[in-house]
Amino acid sequence: MSGSCPSPRGREQPDADLCLIARPLDFIAEVHLRERQICALLDGLVTARTFDRKAAVSILRFLNEEVGVHLRDEAEDLFQALAGLCQEEESIDTVLTRVRADQERATALLPEVRRALQLCLDNGGSLSDADREVLAQFADRVRRHLIVENAIILPMARARLTRADLRRLASGMRSRRGLSGTQELPDAQ
Ligand SMILES: [Fe+2]
Repeated sequence: MSGSCPSPRGREQPDADLCLIARPLDFIAEVHLRERQICALLDGLVTARTFDRKAAVSILRFLNEEVGVHLRDEAEDLFQALAGLCQEEESIDTVLTRVRADQERATALLPEVRRALQLCLDNGGSLSDADREVLAQFADRVRRHLIVENAIILPMARARLTRADLRRLASGMRSRRGLSGTQELPDAQ
């Protein structure tokens, strides 16, 4: 990340490359890549005998600090922009309905995943079999959701959204992260 890029709310080392917000669809794709990495860490926790505290901290940090704002980027800006095209194409509405349902199925397990990881971190114990099942199910649901978003939603957005749409998307994403909302984004996508 270059030194000219802004930092959000006092964090010196943000996880996602905020320079990419000027290209909002690339930024979302990067977050998806990180979601896949988090799923791999979850897989490791599910199969390992010993609880990996470092992995658990990384997962919790991502879930607590990045997932919520990412979901808002999509629900409040990206999906809304695509929904504006629904009048022309019913298939977009069908895809959006599916991706929202997938998202809800994954996020429904978030509280249980957080609780299980935090409990082990606090008590120094191991994951129970039930906890492992929840973590595995959560990773599976996230991966299913990512397939639809990466294979259908992002390509559709790249093909259909205008530069003005992308500037609005970038502006909302910057605002959500406490970054200046007045900066020009001439190179959006
Ligand atoms: Fe996403």
